[in-house]
Amino acid sequence: MTLLFMSKIHNPAVWTAALRHHLPDLEIAIWPEVGDPSAVEFALVWSPKPGELRRYPNLKAVFSFGAGVEHIFADAELPPVPVVKVVDARLTKGLTEYVLLHVLRQHRRLDLMRRAQDQARWIGFATPDTRNTTVGIMGLGEIGRDAAFALVHLGFRVAGWSRTPKDVPGVEGFHGPGGLDAFLKLSRFLVCLLPLTPDTRGILNRERLALLPRGAHLINAGRGPLVVDEDLIAALDSGHIASATLDVFHREPLPPAHAFWSHPKVTVTPHNASDTVPDSVAAQIADNIRRAKRG
Ligand code: GLV
Repeated sequence: MTLLFMSKIHNPAVWTAALRHHLPDLEIAIWPEVGDPSAVEFALVWSPKPGELRRYPNLKAVFSFGAGVEHIFADAELPPVPVVKVVDARLTKGLTEYVLLHVLRQHRRLDLMRRAQDQARWIGFATPDTRNTTVGIMGLGEIGRDAAFALVHLGFRVAGWSRTPKDVPGVEGFHGPGGLDAFLKLSRFLVCLLPLTPDTRGILNRERLALLPRGAHLINAGRGPLVVDEDLIAALDSGHIASATLDVFHREPLPPAHAFWSHPKVTVTPHNASDTVPDSVAAQIADNIRRAKRG
């Protein structure tokens, strides 16, 4: 039983040790040193080279290193096998922390206070009214729901938008294309945690960003191509959107010349809102390999 390991950003030695701990019999081939392609039954991948996975005639399943799987479906020649994403409490909590960190930073005006401190100025302003502040979460899967619960617990009004109806306690639900405009109009903070699919690519474009209340804040920890970059920059420059905190980008690493790096209203984080670590995730990959093996 051979697992093909294909990633430029995950450490093969660490992952191999963690996977073997759960599946001692597992052979692991580190791409591109593959040996006999017909021995490969499983692949654990991040951004696999397009056309590569079809070279393995006995492939039974493809595992993503993360929660996102669009990097796998980007391969037009992907063989028709199950594609498996990570659902992991540590990964989820990392994203919830990221959402809270950046919502609270803007909500409590941390940057304003920091600038005042630089000038030794004691500024007075009222504590913002959390109960009348709506955070809209796009994407109510494992991660979106967890972030929503934490925000509800802090006393925010929370709205959620998802492709299909989702009932999340404490969250005002909107769904489908028909529910999107009303949802955006409410969202003083817009937290985007959507997966990238043909339906969501470019979903945050000029028209949709214009529906947000003036002075809204955007946090995108879903995928870069959910946002039309030029439209976001225009909305920031016009003052319609007050800040954008972006963890994900059309191209990663974000090219040094990209306008986001130096934009005064943009915070760039290097796709590290959360991560998958082997000691937390290897057990579920091993379980899924056993399940796939059983058919
Ligand atoms: C990270 O982006 C993931 O897909 O888990």
